[in-house]
Order: sequence, then structure tokens, then C-alpha cells
Amino acid sequence: MKKIKLTTKSQQETMDFGEGFAKALKAGDIICLFGDLGSGKTTLVKGFAKGLLISPRKVHSPTFTLMNVYEGRNSLPIFHFDLYRIEDVKEIFALDYEEYLFGNGVAIIEWAEKLHDLMPGNYYSFELKHKSENERLITATKKEKK
Ligand SMILES: Nc1ncnc2c1ncn2[C@@H]1O[C@H](COP(=O)(O)OP(=O)(O)O)[C@@H](O)[C@H]1O
Ligand SMILES: [Mg+2]
Repeated sequence: MKKIKLTTKSQQETMDFGEGFAKALKAGDIICLFGDLGSGKTTLVKGFAKGLLISPRKVHSPTFTLMNVYEGRNSLPIFHFDLYRIEDVKEIFALDYEEYLFGNGVAIIEWAEKLHDLMPGNYYSFELKHKSENERLITATKKEKK
């Protein structure tokens, strides 16, 4: 995947981008999302969900539980993490993190920078930046360990 840079002008455009991208997702894929509060991470996840045939209404930031599980197309499990409230990566270990990250599903992680040393070697990176009230700059790349 080449680096993709685009500016979306509405929540809907961000969702549409996520929906299109998600069509190619498969078991074992990891998506790391970076960006401030309100930059559109959860909105993008709703788009991924649509592309995976999950109702976007089911998608909420799992702020208190750290992780939600949804069932996508062909019973593909989707593990949606929000690490905003994590203070110590040990809390992630308590979740049996490896099982989810290297398991039979797709892992989608908001505030992925909180993984620190647990950051996977290979993942899709999405960075979101506020440009104006309704504009977000999205930079998507595939990170691969050399
Ligand atoms: N272009 C855009 N893309 C995504 N969200 C947008 C955009 N323009 C405005 N918004 C608004 O920004 C907010 C993004 O919230 P959310 O997706 O929950 O962000 P995060 O998960 O990063 O905290 C929503 O209220 C949404 O309506
Ligand atoms: Mg969020």
C-alpha cells in the first residue's frame, strides 16, 4: 500500500474512506489509529465497520472496557481497542493482548501510541489531524518491520 493522504470535509467522508479501506481487511491485520480527541478515530472505525458489514451504530469507543468485539463479514472477529485511559502497558497485558492482536481477527486500536514497546511490527497506520471544524487530514501507511 502506498502512502495515502487525504483531507475529508465531513464525518461522512471519513466514514466512506474507512468503508472502502476495510473491504481488503483480513484476519491477522492490525490497524493503529493516532490523533487527538475529536480528530475522527472512532468515526473512521465506524467506516471500517461498515466495510466489514457491521452496523456502525454498534461501534463506540470502548473507553471504560478498553476493548469491544464485533462480528464482521464471514464471522471475522473485530477487536476495537481504545487505550486513552491506559496509564501503564501492564493494563494491556491483563487483557491477554496477544491473543487479540495476533489472533484470528482484525485488531483496531485507538491511541495506539500507548502501546509503546508492545507496538506490533506490521500494521496499518492512520494518523488524523484537525484542519478546521469539519476538515481532517488523514495519512494512511502500511508499516512493515524491516
Ligand atoms: N471530516 C471529519 N471527519 C471525522 N469527524 C469529523 C469531521 N468533521 C467533523 N467531525 C466531527 O468530529 C468528531 C470526531 O469524533 P470521534 O470520531 O469520536 O473522534 P476520536 O475518536 O478521534 O476522539 C465527531 O463529532 C464528528 O462529527
Ligand atoms: Mg474515539
